[in-house]
Amino acid sequence: MTRVFVTRPIAESALAKLRGAAEVDLWAEPEVPPSRAELLARVPQAEGLLCLLTDPIDEEVMSAAPGLRVISNYAVGYDNIDVAAATRRGVMVCNTPGVLTETTADLAWALLMAAARRVPEGERYLRAGKWRSWSPELLLGHDIHGRVLGIVGLGRIGQAVAKRARGFGMRVLYHNPEPKPEAERELGVKYADLDTLLRESDFVSLHTPLNEKTRHLIGERELGMMKPTAVLVNTARGAVVDTKALVAALKGRRIFAAGLDVYETEPLPADDELLACDNVVLLPHVGSATVATRERMAHMAVENLIAGLKGERPPHLVNPEVLS
Ligand code: GLV
Ligand code: GLV
Repeated sequence: MTRVFVTRPIAESALAKLRGAAEVDLWAEPEVPPSRAELLARVPQAEGLLCLLTDPIDEEVMSAAPGLRVISNYAVGYDNIDVAAATRRGVMVCNTPGVLTETTADLAWALLMAAARRVPEGERYLRAGKWRSWSPELLLGHDIHGRVLGIVGLGRIGQAVAKRARGFGMRVLYHNPEPKPEAERELGVKYADLDTLLRESDFVSLHTPLNEKTRHLIGERELGMMKPTAVLVNTARGAVVDTKALVAALKGRRIFAAGLDVYETEPLPADDELLACDNVVLLPHVGSATVATRERMAHMAVENLIAGLKGERPPHLVNPEVLS
């Protein structure tokens, strides 16, 4: 029977479906990924791999798995996989787009609002017993309604974030490799070059994939263009932002605040400089973390894997050129 390696426990109903189609070798630790050595040791017999964004799947892993035919990532982003290497080897790479769009957009908004209105800071203050009185200047933040939202990357998630801005009466700018006239008409958003977007926005939310063009897209220069009252939100990938430059901007109050779900190094090291900044809201990469969405992601990842192993075209194939 076809053998697959699954690098973490995912929804049981999806695993049951996979067990009906393949012999499943499951990494059973829910919160600890297989180490590099363990990953290399478990893949040699695998024809399919169901992996997470915590598993770097590169040449070395693929070389260790000569029978590998399908890599199914339980994530929409696939920067953890060397897709070019997979394509050269004829290995299909799949992801889970669509099912997590709205959920991730919700979380981007949670971060945006929490950072603008200093929600976690206020809670820390109250819990620490520091609240003495209602005060005119206590924990002043910035308005969200009526302000300008800048969306960098108007893909599915960027568009879902834009849609929500309507309820807040915001003006929405977007930057994207190519303008999207249809989205402009539907969502009332306006294209801007990156510098204009950074200068004019009160909130800048990042929704690009991580690749060589977007690595450190937001660095010292870009942060310097943002308003001192602006908030940066990142639910995409940590390395889209130059973290050192961000820490300097937060410490120097060159921007008002940031809301982050993703980091250049995950998990965030206990001594990370971001942890010393009060004006940043930090979440542990939970953009798609709802009961319903994680279940949908599990089923989609399993369906992709099973289809690929059967020699069919998986519903969400990242490298269709592998079939030609
Ligand atoms: C999560 O970050 C994903 O890419 O699905
Ligand atoms: C990712 O799902 C995107 O297209 O925004």
